[in-house]
Amino acid sequence: MSISGIPARSDKINSSVMLVCSWRRMFAVLLALSLVSSGFVYIYVYDGMTVTPARNQAEKYWDDIIENQFTQRSVIVTRTPPTKKNSTECNTFTRVVFIKTHKTASSTTASIIQRFGYTRNLSFVVPSRTQIISSTSGFNRSMLNSRKYPPLNGGKHYDILTNHVRYNRHEMEAVIPNATYITILRHPVNQIVSAFSYFRWAQVINRYHGNKNALVTFMENPAKFPKYKMRFWWQSHNGQLYDLGFRNNYANITDDVIHKYIEILDKEMDLVLITEYFDESLLVLKKQLCWSMDDIIYIPKGVGTSRHILTQQTRDRIMQWNRGDFLLYEHFNRTLWEKITDYGPAFERDLQQFRDKRHTTMEECVDPSVMNTKDPRERKYVLKSNAADKCINMWLSDVRFTALIRDKQGKSKNNIPNQGSLNKSNVTQ
Ligand SMILES: *[C@@H]1O[C@H](CO)[C@@H](O)[C@H](O)[C@H]1NC(C)=O
Ligand SMILES: *[C@@H]1O[C@H](CO)[C@@H](O)[C@H](O)[C@H]1NC(C)=O
Ligand SMILES: *[C@@H]1O[C@H](CO)[C@@H](O)[C@H](O)[C@H]1NC(C)=O
Ligand SMILES: *[C@@H]1O[C@H](CO)[C@@H](O)[C@H](O)[C@H]1NC(C)=O
Ligand SMILES: *[C@@H]1O[C@H](CO)[C@@H](O)[C@H](O)[C@H]1NC(C)=O
Ligand SMILES: *[C@@H]1O[C@H](CO)[C@@H](O)[C@H](O)[C@H]1NC(C)=O
Ligand SMILES: *[C@@H]1O[C@H](CO)[C@@H](O)[C@H](O)[C@H]1NC(C)=O
Repeated sequence: MSISGIPARSDKINSSVMLVCSWRRMFAVLLALSLVSSGFVYIYVYDGMTVTPARNQAEKYWDDIIENQFTQRSVIVTRTPPTKKNSTECNTFTRVVFIKTHKTASSTTASIIQRFGYTRNLSFVVPSRTQIISSTSGFNRSMLNSRKYPPLNGGKHYDILTNHVRYNRHEMEAVIPNATYITILRHPVNQIVSAFSYFRWAQVINRYHGNKNALVTFMENPAKFPKYKMRFWWQSHNGQLYDLGFRNNYANITDDVIHKYIEILDKEMDLVLITEYFDESLLVLKKQLCWSMDDIIYIPKGVGTSRHILTQQTRDRIMQWNRGDFLLYEHFNRTLWEKITDYGPAFERDLQQFRDKRHTTMEECVDPSVMNTKDPRERKYVLKSNAADKCINMWLSDVRFTALIRDKQGKSKNNIPNQGSLNKSNVTQ
């Protein structure tokens, strides 16, 4: 028997477990534990490790895997929408799980949600270090250090999760009950162009194939590339489905399977934003969660610097290789526009108002004469030196917010929220 699966290399939380355990030992442990807890099997399979079966069993094996993808979900959707007081009033939703996909404007989205929660003293599920809970595993409550970062004010549950971790409804419900589930998707062609640049895949590919257009080279035969040397390589193959919990990196995926999974997500996700219609998406979010216009105003967290002119052939190849993500995108692009239709005739007016407000905010807060280019992959906005305090928390990135949240929720301060963290002393540009 051999293991094929998704490596946990960038996943500090799980890598030690995976490295220490040989497959045989794991199997023994599994067998023992499965008698006690069938939940363990669920997570184990969920984490993307699979056993390569004997050739003649392949077909049966594949059927089992597909079966598991769906039947092992024991999710009961227990969302309770706050009841409307009357037709002109709504109650604000404060429990949010945001599934942070990669290279989709998810950092800007995360920082909007973090700002909302931080300024209202809501409690966050945060990683103990960095801004990533896991890049390769579905969420598990054991990834959370609830001793060190307990909910504020002696609460039993958390309110918000926005840091990177793959979707795993069952475990997420355990720490944030009755949350609204949100994610964001981007057209797979745009997403892969951004990922290529951000994860610096060209450097790896060019090492093997000379200085050609690496994206074109990769797409000529994506399956053959030295994946394990490409940082976050799994993001090059239906990475958005992957972030949403789909185990997709081990075999052929049929449209039928994708459609089934989309059906599940359609039931479980309350709102899916679309990067290409970011402002429109935020307006829908505002309405659905009963947030205010000020809650959704944002300063973009980074402006990508990659420029690619793609031939139709390369586009077609991207679409083929990432067909799962495309079907996903197409479906949720449609549901977004249905929500926009439901929003009613005020939509265009509200959108214009929102954009005007965003424009004014940029003028008030951001220095137009300079960009932060410390990271060559992304240019970042710089605050004006005399920018008002409200500009600071609109400008803070998700990484900064994560640190501030840790600071505030950290147990060392007798659980008394740290006040006044959002001030100019936090801003070193
Ligand atoms: C979460 O992960 C731990 C190991 O880190 C495992 O023992 C536990 O069973 C997992 N939880 C669930 C519900 O699968
Ligand atoms: C609904 O709420 C608004 C805002 O609070 C209030 O002005 C209005 O009187 C309420 N209408 C009814 C029917 O209760
Ligand atoms: C948040 O907590 C701080 C410290 O306890 C308090 O001063 C502030 O008023 C709270 N803010 C809100 C919106 O509850
Ligand atoms: C979640 O919703 C259910 C169903 O309305 C309710 O009984 C339960 O108390 C809620 N749980 C929390 C922690 O709010
Ligand atoms: C995937 O499908 C292709 C074409 O149908 C086939 O040639 C290939 O062997 C399949 N690969 C796997 C791993 O099943
Ligand atoms: C997304 O929806 C818009 C509005 O209906 C449509 O114009 C656009 O073509 C859609 N994009 C895709 C890729 O389906
Ligand atoms: C600014 O924040 C820092 C720590 O985040 C705090 O020590 C300091 O007292 C704050 N200053 C003001 C003026 O609020």
